[in-house]
Amino acid sequence: MTTTYPPEPFRIKMTEPIRLIPREAREAALKEAGYNLFLMKAEDMFIDLLTDSGTGAMSQEQWAAIMRGDESYAGARSYHRLKNAVEDVFGFKYFMPTHQGRAAENILSAVLVKPGMYVPSNMHFDTTDANIRARGGRPANLVIDEANDPNNPHPFKGNMDVSKLRAFIEKIGVENIPFGMITVTNNAGGGQPVSMENLKAVSAVYHEFRIPFFIDAARYAENAFFIKQREAGYEKKSVKEIAHEMFSLADGMTMSAKKDAIVNIGGLLCVNDENLFQNLKNELILREGFPTYGGLAGRDLDAMAVGLYEGLDEDYLSYRIGQTAYLASRLNEAGIPTIQPTGGHGVYINAGAIFPHIPNYEFPAQALAVELYREGGIRGVEIGSVMFACLDPEDNQWHYPALELLRLAIPRRTYTQSHLDYVADSLAAIKSRADNVRGYKYAYAPEFLRHFTARFEPL
Ligand code: F0G
Repeated sequence: MTTTYPPEPFRIKMTEPIRLIPREAREAALKEAGYNLFLMKAEDMFIDLLTDSGTGAMSQEQWAAIMRGDESYAGARSYHRLKNAVEDVFGFKYFMPTHQGRAAENILSAVLVKPGMYVPSNMHFDTTDANIRARGGRPANLVIDEANDPNNPHPFKGNMDVSKLRAFIEKIGVENIPFGMITVTNNAGGGQPVSMENLKAVSAVYHEFRIPFFIDAARYAENAFFIKQREAGYEKKSVKEIAHEMFSLADGMTMSAKKDAIVNIGGLLCVNDENLFQNLKNELILREGFPTYGGLAGRDLDAMAVGLYEGLDEDYLSYRIGQTAYLASRLNEAGIPTIQPTGGHGVYINAGAIFPHIPNYEFPAQALAVELYREGGIRGVEIGSVMFACLDPEDNQWHYPALELLRLAIPRRTYTQSHLDYVADSLAAIKSRADNVRGYKYAYAPEFLRHFTARFEPL
C-alpha cells in the first residue's frame, strides 16, 4: 500500500527552473562525463538527488535573517544570535561555528588524534573517517549486525553494538582512544536512527572509561523525530526536548549545518570542556577564522540561527520523513527493493538485487545511477563498490562492500509529490528492462576517493 504523501507545510513563492534535456543530449552528456555523475553539469539535471547537503530551500525567515547579517570581524550580532540558538537547542557550554561539518571534524581530529589511535563510532561518515585517518588515526565502525541486512525491520538500525564497543575499548586500551563518536542518523548505513536507549548505553560505556563522547549531529532532528515516533516513553515529548536529552548524554558534537539546520553552508563544533575548547579555538583560528565567525559570513550565521529552529519544527519533520517514506513505498510497490525501514533523508535502493547479473566488480549501483540519468535526467549517488571497494595491501585482494546501493537523497523543502512520482516511474521503467542493462569498467580511477573523479566505459 502506498504511504500517503503529506501536504507540504509551506507554499512556494520563488521558483528555480529545471528542464529535462532530450534523450540524445543526455546520452552525449553521460559520455562526455565518463559515465560519472559527479562530473556532469547540474544544468543537465532534471531532478538532482545527489545529496541533501546544502541543497535545501531556505525559508522567508532565513532570507530575512540574511539581510540582517552583521559582517563585523569580531563579536558580530549574528554570532550572538547563533550562540543563543545553539545554547538553547544543544545545551553544550562552548561552541564555535565552522564552514561545514568536515571542518569541525578536522579541527577535533587535529587536536585529539595522534598516530595509531582509534576512534570508534556506529559508522563514521566518509569525511569523518578521512579526517581521522589524515591524522594517522584509525576509525572503527561498531554498528549492530542488523544494519548489514537490508530487509531487517529493526526500528533503530543505527544503534551501536554496546558489547562490541566494550570489548573494543578493553582490547585497544583507553589511552589509545582520544574520543568516541556516534552518527545520528547513520548516513553510511541508510539514514537509520539511533535510539535514546542506545545513546544512553553508549554514553555510559564511554564515560565508564572516561572517554569523551562526541555526537555527529548532522541529522539530529530527524533522529529525534524517529525516537518520538518509535521509542516507548517519547511519544509525548517534543522533538526539541528529545534532542536536548540526546545531547545531555554527550561531551560534545560536530555538525554539518547543511542538513538539519537547512542552510546552504555552515557547521558547528560544541564541547563542555573548557581546556579542550581553548585548544580547538586555536586550531580554528589557524584554519577557519576568528572564533565568532569560523569561516562563515555573518549572514550565514544568522540563516543558521533561524534554520536550527525550523529543522526542529514537527510539522516540517513529519512532512520530511513522510515524503521519504512515500518515495520508498512507491518504489517497493513497483518491486524495487530499498533498505528497510526507510531512513530519514533518502531512499537507498538495493541495486545489486535489481541487476543480479552484474557482478560487483562491474558496478551494479553505478549502472543504476547511469540508467536513472539516461531514463529520466535524475541524479543519485552510488554507494557501492565504486565508493568503497579497496585493494588490501596485506593480501593484495580486492575487498567489496556487502551492499551495492544507489542513494536518492532528498533535498529539504525542494521537490514536490509529482517530482517524486516521476522518479518512481523512471525507476519502474528501468526495472522492466533490467535484464538488458550492462555493467561498467574503469577508464580512469585515482587511488583515493575514486568516486569523485573516476571515468568509466560501458561493457
Ligand atoms: N557527517 C555526516 C553524517 C554527513 O552526512 C556529512 C555530509 C558530514 C558529516 C560532513 O559534512 O559535508 O558539511 O562537510 N554528508 C553529505 C552527504 C556530503 O551527501 O551525505 P559537510
